Amino acid sequence: MSNKIRLTQGPPAKGDDFFDREKVIQEIWDRLECSSILLAAPRRFGKTSIMLQLRDNPKNGFTPLFFDIEHVESPEEFILELIGEIQKNKDIWNKIKSGFFSFFKAAGERIEEIEISSIRIKLREAKDVDWKDLGKQLIKLITENEKRLLFILDEFPEMIKLMIERDRERNTDETKIFLGWFRKIRLTMPEDVKLRFLVGGSICLEHLLGQINCIAKINDMDKIKVGPFSDEKAVTFIQELFASDEIGINDGILKAILEHIGTPIPYFIQIIVKALQTESRNLKRSITPEFVKEVYENYLLGTDYKSFFRHYYLRLKEYYAGIDGKKDIVAAAKSILTEISILEKVPKTQLYQLYLDDTHQSRDAEGFGELMSLLENEFYLEYVPEDESYRFFSKLLMDWWYRHFGMLKNDRRGKVK
Ligand SMILES: Nc1ncnc2c1ncn2[C@@H]1O[C@H](COP(=O)(O)OP(=O)(O)O)[C@@H](O)[C@H]1O
Ligand SMILES: [Mg+2]
Repeated sequence: MSNKIRLTQGPPAKGDDFFDREKVIQEIWDRLECSSILLAAPRRFGKTSIMLQLRDNPKNGFTPLFFDIEHVESPEEFILELIGEIQKNKDIWNKIKSGFFSFFKAAGERIEEIEISSIRIKLREAKDVDWKDLGKQLIKLITENEKRLLFILDEFPEMIKLMIERDRERNTDETKIFLGWFRKIRLTMPEDVKLRFLVGGSICLEHLLGQINCIAKINDMDKIKVGPFSDEKAVTFIQELFASDEIGINDGILKAILEHIGTPIPYFIQIIVKALQTESRNLKRSITPEFVKEVYENYLLGTDYKSFFRHYYLRLKEYYAGIDGKKDIVAAAKSILTEISILEKVPKTQLYQLYLDDTHQSRDAEGFGELMSLLENEFYLEYVPEDESYRFFSKLLMDWWYRHFGMLKNDRRGKVK
C-alpha cells in the first residue's frame, strides 16, 4: 500500500494525492471514441480532480487541453478563452496561427499580432467579424491540423448561468445561439477527426437549460455521473490518509468514521480525517471510536467547520430560484430539507404539502416534481421507492442540516446519532 496520499481540502486532488477513480477514468477514455461527454456530479464530488488527471495522463492518442470557464459570461469570451489557452500550446498554435492572420485579413481587418486583447477589440469594433465565425475558424484550423484533441471544459454550468443572466439584462438570446453553435460544432466534425469535448459541471446544468428550453442542445453528449467512493475504496482511502500522517488506525475507528459520515463522499472523508488529526493534536487525545463520535458531534457539525458545508445551503439560493427569481421555491427546498433532517425519512405526500404551503399554492405537482428531482440529482436527497418517501443522500449532510437549521424543532428528534 502506498502511503503518499496527503490531505487535500478544497483544491482538486492531484498527482500522488489523487485517489482511485480508475473505473470512471477508463470509461471516459473509452466513450470518448464515440462522442463528447458530460461529466456530471454535484460540487465537491471530485470532477475537477478527475479532469486534471485526464489532462495529465492522456490516453488513446488524445492531446488534452483544459479550460476553466467558470467566469466566462458571453460566447465571445468563450471563444477568446479557447484561443488564449490554445496559444499556450506552442505546438498547436504554430500550426494554426497563420490561418488566423488570413481570417482577419479576409474580413478586412489588419492585425499584426494575435493577442487576445487585440482580438477582443477587433471583435468589438469590427462589424464583419463575429464570434460565431471566429469560433468556426478556430475549430476549422484546429481540426485541419490535429486529429485527436480533447477539450476539457470545467464549470460549464457556471458559464451558462452567467450567459443567461447577461441575456436577461440585455434582452438578448445569445445563450441559445451559443448552445446551438456548440452543438453544431460537435455534430459536424469531419469523419477523420476526433475533437471531443468533456464538459464538466454540477447537475444543475439540465435545470438551467430547461429554463431556456434548451435541454435538447446537449443531448448528443454522453452523460457520465461521478458518484461517491465504494465502501471498500473508502476504507483504503482513509487508511492511506492516516498512513501519510504516521497514525495507525484499527477497524473500530474505520467503522466509526464510516458510520458517522454515511455515504463516502471523498471530500467528506478528507474533512473528517483532518478534523480527527487536528483535534487529537489540540486536545492531546488519541484517536478511538469514542473520540470519532466526539469530534463528529462537537467539531465537525459545529461552527468551526461550517465553512466546509455552507455552500450546500447557499447553493439553493443561487441556483434554485431559477431565472424567474422565485424565492418561494428556495424556501420550499429549505423546509423540505429541514423536515427530512428532523424526521430522517419523510413521505412524499407530506413533503408536497410543505411545498404547497411555502409556494402559496393549492396545486402544483409539476413544480414539486421538478424541485424534488433537482434535490435528488444533486445528491441532497434520495428516493425510497418501497415507502414512497425521501431521505438525505449523505448522513453527514443530514446531521449538519439538522444541527444548523433543525434546532427549533429539536424535540422531534433525539440527539444526533
Ligand atoms: N480522487 C480523489 N482523491 C482524493 N481526494 C479527492 C478526490 N476527489 C475529490 N477529492 C476531495 O474532494 C475535494 C473536491 O474535489 P474537486 O475535484 O474539486 O470536486 P468538484 O470539481 O466536483 O467540485 C478535493 O479538495 C478533495 O478534498
Ligand atoms: Mg470543480
